[in-house]
Amino acid sequence: MISQLPSQTRKIIPIVIAFFVAYVLLSFVIADNRDTVGLSRFSQSGLRDRDFDDISNTTLGFEHIYAIGLKERTDKRDFLTVAASVSGFDVDWVDGVRSQDLQQKALPNGYNLSTIEPNVIGCWRAHMNVLKSVIANSYSTALVLEDDADWDVNIKTQLREFARGLHSLKGDKKVSKQAPYGTDWDLLWIGGCSSAADVNETQFYAIPNDPTVPRVERRRTWFGPLDSWKEEFPEDSTRFIYRAQEGCCTFGYAVTARGAKKILTALAIDHIELPVDVAMAELCGGLGDRERIECFAPFPNLIGTYRPAGPAYKDSDINSGDQNVHEEQAYNLVYSTRRNIHRLVSGAETVFSQWGEESPWSPGEVNPKEFVYPRGYHFH
Ligand SMILES: *[C@@H]1O[C@H](CO)[C@@H](O)[C@H](O)[C@H]1NC(C)=O
Ligand SMILES: *[C@@H]1O[C@H](CO)[C@@H](O)[C@H](O)[C@H]1NC(C)=O
Ligand SMILES: *[C@@H]1O[C@H](CO)[C@@H](O)[C@H](O)[C@H]1NC(C)=O
Repeated sequence: MISQLPSQTRKIIPIVIAFFVAYVLLSFVIADNRDTVGLSRFSQSGLRDRDFDDISNTTLGFEHIYAIGLKERTDKRDFLTVAASVSGFDVDWVDGVRSQDLQQKALPNGYNLSTIEPNVIGCWRAHMNVLKSVIANSYSTALVLEDDADWDVNIKTQLREFARGLHSLKGDKKVSKQAPYGTDWDLLWIGGCSSAADVNETQFYAIPNDPTVPRVERRRTWFGPLDSWKEEFPEDSTRFIYRAQEGCCTFGYAVTARGAKKILTALAIDHIELPVDVAMAELCGGLGDRERIECFAPFPNLIGTYRPAGPAYKDSDINSGDQNVHEEQAYNLVYSTRRNIHRLVSGAETVFSQWGEESPWSPGEVNPKEFVYPRGYHFH
């Protein structure tokens, strides 16, 4: 066919083809470069899945789990015990403390029993008792829960990915099977109201399209990921893990032996006249002349809090609350264990999202046995 074309056209065709081929090749090279530039800031960890197997054990891969609650709040003890049992873990109860059982002379200098909020100091002491027990028992790691804690039915799968993210942020190349979270940190603020990273923090781990993440409008959180991180991953459906410089509420946090010693020293031997969560947050941020401790947190948190339907005064033993009646609430969760407790106890195969079908990344109903939790990315 070419031989039948006029000679001028015959000369042009190879040039056109050459240009075309060059264009295609060049655009591949450019696109490739663009991708590698973008992707080089993300990586997926090569840690072996089986190194995290102990996270499925009855202490969630920690050496011990404590639950703090007043002895007489039998209602809360009953519920937490059943919820932990259907989730496959055991808790060791530690009694909450009342301020009237404390003596002024046993308090650190600066604490004044007659002026400090009684429940604040009772809560402080209960957490100090737990930390003292971690040290006395030489536990390498321990998780501490409060008696109204609630968590996703998929907590074990979530914690595996949390551990992967943690090792990724720490730059660990290997994980010891006996310490699936490692022990080179002080505090993991797994459960609480909120947390924040340092404004200059450059690293984070992101789990996009996490079905267990409630929409932003359904959360009761503040701070959270830095604005620049939200440009990389949508805030609505991503769980972020980062080095935390502050946190609040103590529904569920983990300490290492090292962390327990540092926190007990700072909050009981020394003096911080603040509620225990605010004081721990100051340590995470290294505020004042305090030594900064090493804290990490997922956002939204993995352990939230639960309020049964009814009057507010029944909820907390720290804040008095009022007669106002509220609906059943499970903060910052999607597949709340407590809101699904009847299904879980009766052996139903599936559980429900407390938000129905409203977010595209969270099915309204899931089977925890078939649930696949997404893999995250480390952003450098
Ligand atoms: C505690 O505060 C009360 C009232 O302000 C004061 O009378 C008392 O001396 C203080 N006690 C200590 C140990 O500081
Ligand atoms: C669960 O695994 C952790 C990490 O290996 C371990 O320290 C803990 O003792 C285990 N718990 C139980 C009940 O076996
Ligand atoms: C963040 O970095 C800036 C510039 O280096 C510095 O001035 C600022 O103090 C840092 N902020 C914190 C909280 O470390």
